[in-house]
Amino acid sequence: MEQPNSGSPSETHIDDLVSKLPVREGMVLYKSYWLWPQTAKRVMLLQDMFKARDDDVILATNPKCGTTWLKALAFTITTRSSYDLHNHPLLTLHPQEVVPFLEIPANEDLTYVETLASPRLLATHVPMSLLPESIANHGCVRIVYICREPKDAFVSLWHFWNRVHGGRGADLDLDTAFNRFCEGALPYGPFWNHCLEYWKESIARPDRVLFLKYEDMMSDPVGCVKKLALFLGVPFTDREEEGGVVEQVVRLCSFEMLSGLEANKTGNLKVRARPNVVYEKAAFFRRGKVGDWVNHMSEEMGTKLDSIMEEKLKGSGLVL
Ligand code: A3P
Repeated sequence: MEQPNSGSPSETHIDDLVSKLPVREGMVLYKSYWLWPQTAKRVMLLQDMFKARDDDVILATNPKCGTTWLKALAFTITTRSSYDLHNHPLLTLHPQEVVPFLEIPANEDLTYVETLASPRLLATHVPMSLLPESIANHGCVRIVYICREPKDAFVSLWHFWNRVHGGRGADLDLDTAFNRFCEGALPYGPFWNHCLEYWKESIARPDRVLFLKYEDMMSDPVGCVKKLALFLGVPFTDREEEGGVVEQVVRLCSFEMLSGLEANKTGNLKVRARPNVVYEKAAFFRRGKVGDWVNHMSEEMGTKLDSIMEEKLKGSGLVL
């Protein structure tokens, strides 16, 4: 685990708070969410440090629900006046490199987000209720949330976990991983509370939170990309639509295109805040399919997770 940046009183105090939280499988339970201790610490630090700006855009996701895809799309849409789509940064940079995470900075200094030019595009896995108050109370900050069918999200997470941590002797068999998922004991879990909080905010404040589903983006990428651009305040013009720009954005950010690029096939992401963990760039592109769970989970497991989700989402209007 990384060391604190300094011995400032607030950091010492936060370390102390984190050390007293309930622990399970290396995670701590902070305000009903399971987080890695270093994430819990960053969440607490961000509360104090992060200052939202009017034009900030936050891309929020549960892990393995389409973060990489959403980063690519939001980046391409919002910067399209600056970059030629045929000679684009995403042809040489991984989508994870063009949009930084709020709580998983590439360097150890959390103040780096202050140095980014406006308008900032930031990603996060932090649940709505744990976001810095500066974001939560800010009337202008826009949040895009992408959610995914939980069985597919679980299978994707299980593969990713074993790819990243397996080599370090921390392999998880499917049954163990599944039981933890069903108990909500996964990083940023429970999965359902994460979705529900953003869902409720998207209903209460649709101008502020756009709630997307991975499956809808797969079935109607053009429609979803137009919706995303509109929400981000940069709708496609008639001329762009007639010129096929929306389709070009969809193609550039597609699984087929991104997973085939040399920039995304080789090498590792630099996450200096997590020096012991190797994040292969290629690990963020596995199958990119809807319904892949049937190739890994039994029907019984599927039914069990469906009924948990049904019960947890009951009455919310959210169906996954
Ligand atoms: P699978 O493991 O099911 O293939 P995240 O980006 O949140 O880590 O999510 C990773 C999941 O999104 C993986 O799912 C990955 O293959 C898929 N993915 C990555 N890029 C994608 C893209 N451009 N289009 C669709 N799916 C994508």
